[in-house]
Amino acid sequence: MQSSQLFLLSIALNLLRVGVAEERFCSAPSIFKAEEDSQSLYWKVTKPTLSPPHLQDLPGFTRSVYKRDHALITPESHVFSPLPDWTNTLGAYLISPAVGAHFVMYLAKMQEKSRSGIPPHDVERLIFVVHGTVTLSNVSDVSHKLIVDSYAYLPPNLEHSVMCDTSATLVVFERRYAFLEDHITEQIVSSTDKQPLLQTPGEVFELRKLLPASMPYDFNIHVMDFQPGEFLNVKEVHYNQHGLLLLEGQGIYRLGDNWYPVQAGDAIWMAPFVPQWYAALGKTRSRYLLYKDVNRNPL
Ligand SMILES: *[C@@H]1O[C@H](CO)[C@@H](O)[C@H](O)[C@H]1NC(C)=O
Repeated sequence: MQSSQLFLLSIALNLLRVGVAEERFCSAPSIFKAEEDSQSLYWKVTKPTLSPPHLQDLPGFTRSVYKRDHALITPESHVFSPLPDWTNTLGAYLISPAVGAHFVMYLAKMQEKSRSGIPPHDVERLIFVVHGTVTLSNVSDVSHKLIVDSYAYLPPNLEHSVMCDTSATLVVFERRYAFLEDHITEQIVSSTDKQPLLQTPGEVFELRKLLPASMPYDFNIHVMDFQPGEFLNVKEVHYNQHGLLLLEGQGIYRLGDNWYPVQAGDAIWMAPFVPQWYAALGKTRSRYLLYKDVNRNPL
């Protein structure tokens, strides 16, 4: 063969390969995918398939950003390492006091026969299951099976353990409890779908709170749902800090003067007073978890 013929042949082969690749992409068995979706509510958190692979593969490319008053931490930047005090569990701290937060937010990937550690003294904990199943128990004989969308609040200094036989992913929030005289918090085990919809005057998003709004609790976790096209009315600036995990959907988050395209699996740190605003886009509902400190005098 002459070199020009070889050249043409290689072009033809490449075209064929592209054709095959596209074919595979287009004809991905959508029924199977739909099944997978319905099996696990928040599957995009642990499998952020929406992120274009060609961008993830681009050397040095990340959507993650770290600034003085906010951070966007996207899945391609996650760094997991064994969680101290836990067994067989890998953790990725997405927010910690090093960024100026008074809390931590981390992903805990529990593997076969894994077990949680106890938080430091006076530290309260909230766990929320995004993948798999775990068993929660304390010193009593009653234990709880937590599936996707379930959560548990563990008061400071409550002995407990979270165990997993196969695999599970949790998002965990912890902070040093701000004690108030004559108030104590109690263990809570529930799930998002059991929480009532709350009034949001002037806003269109749907709001649920995972913890009681009462004085003993010094933080809450809001679950906020937006349909595509819905957005925050108030361009919020406030003293509270936030840790956010986008569970479903995609949209634009405004933080200060920056506008970030975001999607399920992305995490955001918002320092006090950073201007913040969200608009949901795409074709499906946006749902996010939002840590917020409440009920304490900021002084
Ligand atoms: C331990 O767990 C049980 C079962 O959920 C619960 O009723 C009890 O209040 C928990 N103990 C404490 C001290 O919170």
